[in-house]
Amino acid sequence: MHYGIIGSGMVAQSLAKGLLKYGHRVTVGSRDAQKQLELASAIEGIETAGFPETAERAEALILAVKGSAALDALGQCGAGNIRGKLIIDATNPIEAAPPTQGVLKFFTTLDESLMERLQNAFPEAHFVKAFNSIGNAHMVDPDFGAEKPTMFICGNDATSKATTRVLLEQFGWEVEDLGSAPSARAIEPLCMLWCIPGMLEGRWNHAFRLLKKP
Ligand SMILES: NC(=O)c1ccc[n+]([C@@H]2O[C@H](COP(=O)([O-])OP(=O)(O)OC[C@H]3O[C@@H](n4cnc5c(N)ncnc54)[C@H](OP(=O)(O)O)[C@@H]3O)[C@@H](O)[C@H]2O)c1
Repeated sequence: MHYGIIGSGMVAQSLAKGLLKYGHRVTVGSRDAQKQLELASAIEGIETAGFPETAERAEALILAVKGSAALDALGQCGAGNIRGKLIIDATNPIEAAPPTQGVLKFFTTLDESLMERLQNAFPEAHFVKAFNSIGNAHMVDPDFGAEKPTMFICGNDATSKATTRVLLEQFGWEVEDLGSAPSARAIEPLCMLWCIPGMLEGRWNHAFRLLKKP
């Protein structure tokens, strides 16, 4: 599968390496031509391009930009280039304001997630929330001992969620499908929870697992 990653930060780079490892073709998109060159030489095997070209070429996309720039970045991709495509949304709606005692501030409310805003703005794209509540170091081949951690996903399109599930299972996750886009109201704040031990005590090596009674 040819994945295009919109964004060039730590998440984009970790996922690009994972996608290559599991046999996918990867184009990493950045607005910055110099970053494109640096990434192409830093990660052997990827292609790089601007946002519109990345979105146009790829069969499916991963959105990995700063949450406050997500709408803008998709606009830069061009609605026509993302129409009908899966967009795995790894973003979090983190405010620029500093955290309160280790608790991040969000610019969304519990009645509207960032992913719903994106889905409403681009109704012909198929958003699936994933990867937002785990640090980039653990996104691919998470190693937490004998048990697999759980990746919570949601989105409106069943085929897109099935494609996302295949990728997550390749990467070593147990997948918990929590339903349609409004479930992102619950999944996005898991990022706040995940970050608290890091913010307060510098501990970033954990993941969530949903325990189920047999
Ligand atoms: N860091 C983690 O471990 C982690 C874990 C889970 C989820 N997340 C979420 O994943 C996303 C990416 O995180 P990150 O740490 O890799 O990077 P980041 O520093 O949050 O974002 C970097 C990316 O944002 C893009 N960007 C910034 N301003 C922009 C604008 N005005 N228009 C378009 N694009 C813009 C940049 O694009 P250019 O390349 O064009 O400059 C760059 O690729 C965030 O939403 C974050 O909350 C992060």
